[in-house]
Amino acid sequence: MSETPVHIVRFEPVGVEMEVAEGETVLDAAFRQGVAVMHGCKEGQCSSCKALLIDGDVEMLKYSTFALPDYERDANHVLLCRTLAHTDITVELLNYDEDLMRRSIAVKEFAGKVVGISALTHDIRRLDVELEQPIRFWAGQFVDITLPEKGITRSYSMASVPSSPGQVSFIIKKYPNGAFSTALDTELKPGDPVLVKGPYGGCFRREERPGPMVLIGGGSGMSPLWSILNDHIESGEQRPIRFFYGARTRRDLFYLEQFAEFEQKVPDFRFIPALSAAEPEDGWTGETGYIHEVVARTLKEEGFDGASIDAYTCGPAPMIDAITPVLHMAGVPPDQMYFDKFTQAVR
Ligand SMILES: Cc1cc2nc3c(=O)[nH]c(=O)nc-3n(C[C@H](O)[C@H](O)[C@H](O)COP(=O)(O)OP(=O)(O)OC[C@H]3O[C@@H](n4cnc5c(N)ncnc54)[C@H](O)[C@@H]3O)c2cc1C
Ligand code: FES
Repeated sequence: MSETPVHIVRFEPVGVEMEVAEGETVLDAAFRQGVAVMHGCKEGQCSSCKALLIDGDVEMLKYSTFALPDYERDANHVLLCRTLAHTDITVELLNYDEDLMRRSIAVKEFAGKVVGISALTHDIRRLDVELEQPIRFWAGQFVDITLPEKGITRSYSMASVPSSPGQVSFIIKKYPNGAFSTALDTELKPGDPVLVKGPYGGCFRREERPGPMVLIGGGSGMSPLWSILNDHIESGEQRPIRFFYGARTRRDLFYLEQFAEFEQKVPDFRFIPALSAAEPEDGWTGETGYIHEVVARTLKEEGFDGASIDAYTCGPAPMIDAITPVLHMAGVPPDQMYFDKFTQAVR
């Protein structure tokens, strides 16, 4: 029986080498060998893993042209989560940082069971899962959760903190006809088995930084941001924090009491919710409009030095696309902007 051919992948400018088997994506090979490469959806939808092919012969599996437009493909850009190598290859990483390399955690599988499902709003649920073995992760990272009885796998970001590695929580938005998310109200119950694989993602809390931390989310984008915020508070580090959260109406907001408590006890912390479609009966006196407009306005008023800001943006892709130019305008360096795009599953 012939063995599967194996090729060498060389990453520049870091000079790291690893193996990739024929038929295996470069990103899967990196997970298998504990090599830290920036990624998000793992399905060719988000562009986080975009890199430049310097040398070698590759094939690309199906991907979204939103993630890799044709003009970039023609200029030898590839998505590592969709790249199969047919020879030894060299790629230049476009998104990487020292923290990502230093804090790489090997991806593993964990058996677990549901221990709680509760309603946070009319369409947002909190899912609590107990794991047989603790999972090591950084605040802001995500896992793939499989419901073995339904054969569905989806990505969800931990809302809980790394200091509770045996029981993890997730904040999940329900979509009409959503295979996973509607099961939270219909089929899934405490005691049901789940499989958890991870951790994944590079949008995790950068520690010991003096400048302002800006957290921006909408809908279930709260999940990783809640973990980052609580992990930061637990660490005892001090820095200005501005937490922006976009929702349509008052009934989409939750955790308001917890945020009010943080505003009392955490120095230089502000929670800034904004409603884009406030109803008269909401009696809303806070910020209105789209969250990117509120972020632009507030950062200008605060007069922060953009170069010292770390910004974490999590949630739907259109929100992230709208925020990116606002952060550029505020002077936030690209390598201090961290994103978690909640793209739709293609599986
Ligand atoms: C890196 C990453 C992290 C994520 N973290 C979270 C998280 O913490 N919390 C969370 O709630 N979700 C998160 N998601 C999204 C999640 O993985 C699922 O896509 C989502 O829960 C929908 O799955 P479903 O099976 O219910 O719907 P599906 O059966 O996959 O889709 C049913 C219908 O719902 C709508 N829909 C589904 N997904 C989306 C979407 N992302 N945007 C807009 N419309 C959609 C579409 O109309 C679709 O046809 C994350 C995604 C990624 C890639
Ligand atoms: S496009 Fe490759 S990780 Fe999202």
